[in-house]
Amino acid sequence: MAPDPSRQDPAIESSIPRHFTVKRTRPKRAGAGYAPPYPSYSVRFAEGVSNLVCAFLGVQSRAPLSHEAKVASAGMWELCANEDGPMSREHAVHTDEQGFDNQVIIAYWDDVDAYGRWFKKHRDALIGAGLEPSDYGRWIEAVTPEARGFETLYSSNTFPEGAARMATGGFTGEIQEHGYWGSMRDRLPIAQTDALEPVGDPVVPRNPGIVRVEPHDNLAVIRSGQDWSLCDDAERASYFSHVEPQLKAGMDFLTTEGASIGCYANRYMTSSDGNGNVLEQSFGLSFWHSLEDMERWAESHPTHVAIFRSAMTFLQANAGARLRLSHEVAVVSRDQQYYEYNNCHAGTGMLGARRPLGTA
Ligand code: HEM
Repeated sequence: MAPDPSRQDPAIESSIPRHFTVKRTRPKRAGAGYAPPYPSYSVRFAEGVSNLVCAFLGVQSRAPLSHEAKVASAGMWELCANEDGPMSREHAVHTDEQGFDNQVIIAYWDDVDAYGRWFKKHRDALIGAGLEPSDYGRWIEAVTPEARGFETLYSSNTFPEGAARMATGGFTGEIQEHGYWGSMRDRLPIAQTDALEPVGDPVVPRNPGIVRVEPHDNLAVIRSGQDWSLCDDAERASYFSHVEPQLKAGMDFLTTEGASIGCYANRYMTSSDGNGNVLEQSFGLSFWHSLEDMERWAESHPTHVAIFRSAMTFLQANAGARLRLSHEVAVVSRDQQYYEYNNCHAGTGMLGARRPLGTA
């Protein structure tokens, strides 16, 4: 989309909150006078928040999800209501490439200490430690990034989805750092002074029973959401004819061939109400060797370029379209990640993480 000179708006603010703004040692990709071609927003967390928490709590069984697996997921949901539980929780479903159904709870905290207390108390119940072997699996994937290592982007400021639900400071005004490749890094406070280079590879133990994957420093995680619940019939039809097939192709690529470009794991998930009904919302969730690998895929891989182009064509053809896009990215140190699997198939999430042969 061509830049619109009338959008040179002094009210445009930085995605980086003032209390995290420092003298850059790493320049932004966009110049100071850059004005984005269309509006987008970030969210603000409370100023005292040091770390954020995003936990994915899954159960898995061969499709269709077994009754026992559904009961286990309901038990996880109830644990979330206990003391020190998450600020926000939601459901999603995902049929993976091996034909297993996964029922997932996504839980967010803006208080890492509360999460730590909650998790210590409920870890055994969540992962099923000490339970008789069953016909379903359980998994936990949780990250606790510094608030400085987390960024958000929303196409609409009326869409408190995912991490936005723990943003007590609400939406920003229009932000400057978007609409160009590299803007994700420019929105990350920590990237003002840190190249965020990855260190090491994940180690996936092959022991029986409960398996905990050892991650590495500066792994990057993205949740990128789409919501068509407000679209009218024409917009919905256009989204499903032109944009969604490109998104599906990109998600299929990352799921099956992502390892070749640094994507350890990817799921294309659908939000649900927890009672077997899907919502008009989906999201991609993926784990990457580095922020740079993620950037490279977004900017230059034919699958994301096709997603991006189809979305631009969609937005031009459907002026005022109510498709809402959201994006949250974390870059995490080794000790800010927790991946644990019990009785899951070997391709589940970070359990299937591998680096392409011959890479450092
Ligand atoms: C950036 C479109 C799905 C990864 C962008 C941007 C657009 C876009 C317009 C530029 C945003 C800006 O700076 O203003 C879409 C659409 C999607 C979609 C329409 C779905 C219908 C995804 C998914 C992923 C992803 C599922 C990852 C799993 C990224 C990344 C960037 C990006 C990493 C940031 C690139 C950078 O700033 O360097 N996308 N995207 N996108 N997208 Fe997507």
